[in-house]
Amino acid sequence: MNDSELIAAARAARLFARAPYSKFKVGAALLTTGGQVITGCNIENATYGLTICAERVAMFKALSEGQKKFTTIAIAFDTTGPTPPCGACRQILWEFGGDLEIILVNTRKETGRHRLSELLPHPFDERNLG
Ligand code: THU
Repeated sequence: MNDSELIAAARAARLFARAPYSKFKVGAALLTTGGQVITGCNIENATYGLTICAERVAMFKALSEGQKKFTTIAIAFDTTGPTPPCGACRQILWEFGGDLEIILVNTRKETGRHRLSELLPHPFDERNLG
């Protein structure tokens, strides 16, 4: 699984987004250390507040399938500039994925590449629970 394949999986997942309210479709593809890809898309609903982002759908799907270790997540948006993951997703990705490589793309090109520790410095995690 190379970066282009992971990016293609994130773009393909984006097409399944359920975003009738925001019309903002997002796709994510999470790569395990074993080379498996688990995808997610954002899913909105009429309450708005119960919306779940593409990144968390991908992570929760992966965890629920017994996956435990991850290296990279590709996230696809339809924006011209780089769109980084929201704060809630950064927290969940950190807790379950650690210092992931994050590849941001739009429908045509790569728009950014980060380590999660860059996007979430000084994280709250189990170490803070004492
Ligand atoms: N969204 C994501 O799926 N991931 C993010 O990192 C940012 C926002 C979704 C949530 C909502 O359905 C729509 O994009 C607009 O915020």
